[in-house]
Amino acid sequence: MPTSTKNKKRKKSGSSRTAKGSDIHELYELSVQDPEGEIDTIDRIWKDQRGRTASSMREDFCGTAAVAREWVKKRPDNTAVGIDLSPEVLDWCRARIDANLNEEQSSRLELIEGDVLVSPTKPVETVLAFNFSYFLFKKREQVLNYFKTVKDQLLDDGLFILDAYGGSDSFLEMEEDRDLDGFTYVWDQHHYDPVSGDVINHIHFKFPDGTKIKNAFTYEWRLWTLPEIQELLVEAGFRRAVVYWEGTDEETDEGNGVWTEAEKGEACEGWVAYLVGIK
Ligand SMILES: C[S@@+](CC[C@H](N)C(=O)[O-])C[C@H]1O[C@@H](n2cnc3c(N)ncnc32)[C@H](O)[C@@H]1O
Repeated sequence: MPTSTKNKKRKKSGSSRTAKGSDIHELYELSVQDPEGEIDTIDRIWKDQRGRTASSMREDFCGTAAVAREWVKKRPDNTAVGIDLSPEVLDWCRARIDANLNEEQSSRLELIEGDVLVSPTKPVETVLAFNFSYFLFKKREQVLNYFKTVKDQLLDDGLFILDAYGGSDSFLEMEEDRDLDGFTYVWDQHHYDPVSGDVINHIHFKFPDGTKIKNAFTYEWRLWTLPEIQELLVEAGFRRAVVYWEGTDEETDEGNGVWTEAEKGEACEGWVAYLVGIK
């Protein structure tokens, strides 16, 4: 994923890994996920928009359901539903649930193997679509259909929280390496087509012994822009769509990990923003 404070863990320890002994889902979580930070942002958005935190959530395209797992740990009345098409990633998630959640916590987390478009669930307060997963819908009608489906799964005062990335670098074919705990994460913007807006991005992992896992993950997406997504949210029936833009750390001049509602952004090389569809 493009680097932002959201996923910029740079932890270099003495430990080293090898391609053979590594688990791509674990490396993915270490590289691009920060569930605690993500939940702080969700709580802040809820307090801003509704004056309270939410309890029930649905994590669409949940993958390893890192946010849903953290959500049920965060507060004793929190419930979560994670939906993903892949039985393999859900099995990985179940093993993590068994290892890291107690029985009471896991009883508040449901995993559904299914398509987000046709997996109706009990209405929830908040639906999440993170790490740009809905970019796989390349046509307007597909995004619109997905956003309408989400709206129908939300309670009356519900919030749909999703993210997006962009910036001048997002239109380039380029690679970015980050050294992490015993491995290097490589974000490979392999292909960008200015006519269709389609991108092909890969994640590779490299190890100190010279071994590699190439194309551990591949994403074929359309690079949607913030105004397009806001317009589609409103067209899908959300009352309002707002953008949360990341603040700047004055010392480093980089993102400070705090996103606030904004009407204007900055033309930086790379950014990750949150959007909120307000029902
Ligand atoms: C980029 S990963 C995102 C994982 C996680 N949300 C995160 O933040 O890292 C995309 C996930 O979406 C799942 N997926 C793709 N199309 C889907 C669909 N129509 N319904 C449900 N899951 C889908 C894939 O199996 C994959 O696990």
